[in-house]
Amino acid sequence: MGRDRAHGPPEVENYGLVIQTSGVASRVQVELCAPCHSRRTELGDYNHTRTAFLDNLVPVVLEEGLYYPDGQILDEVYEYGSFVQSKMFQNNVRCSDCHDVHRLTLLKEGNDLCLQCHRKDAYDSPEHHFHQMTFQGKPNEGARCVKCHMPERPYMIIDYRADHSLRVPRPDLTVKIGTPNACGQSGCHDDKPVTWIVDAYDRWYGKAKKPHYGTALAAGRAGKPEAQTELVRLAGDRSIRLSSGLRLSRSSGRILVKKAPRRLTARSPTTKRSCATPPPTMSTPSSRNNWPNGSPHFSSIPSGRSACRRQPS
Ligand code: HEC
Ligand code: HEC
Ligand code: HEC
Ligand code: HEC
Repeated sequence: MGRDRAHGPPEVENYGLVIQTSGVASRVQVELCAPCHSRRTELGDYNHTRTAFLDNLVPVVLEEGLYYPDGQILDEVYEYGSFVQSKMFQNNVRCSDCHDVHRLTLLKEGNDLCLQCHRKDAYDSPEHHFHQMTFQGKPNEGARCVKCHMPERPYMIIDYRADHSLRVPRPDLTVKIGTPNACGQSGCHDDKPVTWIVDAYDRWYGKAKKPHYGTALAAGRAGKPEAQTELVRLAGDRSIRLSSGLRLSRSSGRILVKKAPRRLTARSPTTKRSCATPPPTMSTPSSRNNWPNGSPHFSSIPSGRSACRRQPS
């Protein structure tokens, strides 16, 4: 399958995509990519004419075993569930702000990708990241935005996935709830104890840390009763965090469904049902094989094979 087949406009037209892909709102665009670039289950027969992603498919929430409690990628979860956690998504940034969706290349190389929107003087400098711009005569990896804000994780040994939640590194959470932090990733400071990392971080950025939903989800996963209040508060949040809080607070007995956003509660009868009853079992990569042969994007996929990449074969 040629890459441009998946995304090129002529093909899209040929495959009879039911809605326009250019000039659409950010959420709509992200939801166009989501059916393939998310880990999810289907609600009944997937029907491409129902365009609202959440009317057709249920993305997994921040499940134990799939995501770390703070929402970083753990298992193969693709990009959508991460990106919707980000401040950038909440501020209308979309996939095509970084990816040329026709060629599947990044729009710009290196830090220039991020400097399309973020100020060079403020961020592309040791004053922000405390790393020299060059190291042993080469551009320093430690000065690359993505190294700290989109750390990669290997899948099936050779495939690397960049965490699309575009988060700020939090070594303090490594100490509190055992989540990884970008500083300690392989090839950076994995040879140092976490106390060394936390010390440097505190020296550079100060000790005060914002509360993080990871601590509530970690406590919820551990079944701690004191997690309840915070989980219910998370359930009122309009994001993937909410459904994670919802799920955990449900399992601990009390639940405020009316606090969940309309999108998940009142969108359609099917969606409503999926929210009010325990969600279906989580999808596995192999359940992604359900793409109908007549997928609007891929005419060439043999039936039974998924349109999504990185299937165990
Ligand atoms: C019908 C399914 C489908 C849809 C919809 C879809 N993609 Fe993809 N995408 C794929 C598949 C399958 C691949 C893997 C292709 C390959 O490896 O050659 C891919 C690959 C990619 C890659 C390249 C990954 C790499 O390793 O270089 C990017 C970036 C990407 N898609 C972004 C998007 C964006 C952004 C959207 C929404 C505008 C989108 N895709 C919509 C199926 C889809
Ligand atoms: C299309 C514009 C755009 C591009 C491109 C972009 N960003 Fe952002 N970014 C934003 C906006 C908007 C925000 C939210 C700012 C706010 O909340 O005030 C943001 C916020 C952030 C944050 C703060 C996250 C947090 O939780 O506090 C980080 C980190 C970040 N971006 C990193 C990056 C990196 C790394 C890249 C390149 C890979 C990048 N951004 C590319 C627009 C962009
Ligand atoms: C060595 C790691 C590192 C690199 C490289 C790095 N950052 Fe950051 N970034 C951080 C840390 C740590 C914070 C949190 C700072 C704080 O809490 O004050 C942060 C915070 C941010 C924020 C959130 C807003 C803020 O000022 O707190 C944005 C936006 C951001 N970085 C963008 C970028 C961009 C764009 C680049 C590349 C030009 C980049 N960063 C390179 C570590 C890094
Ligand atoms: C802020 C910029 C930015 C945004 C927004 C963004 N990506 Fe990416 N994406 C990247 C970078 C950087 C990589 C790593 C590319 C590399 O290493 O070649 C990447 C990698 C990927 C890959 C390759 C596999 C992986 O996970 O590393 C896919 C597929 C992908 N992005 C899809 C998407 C989709 C779908 C969206 C929207 C939901 C999206 N991206 C939004 C910057 C972005």
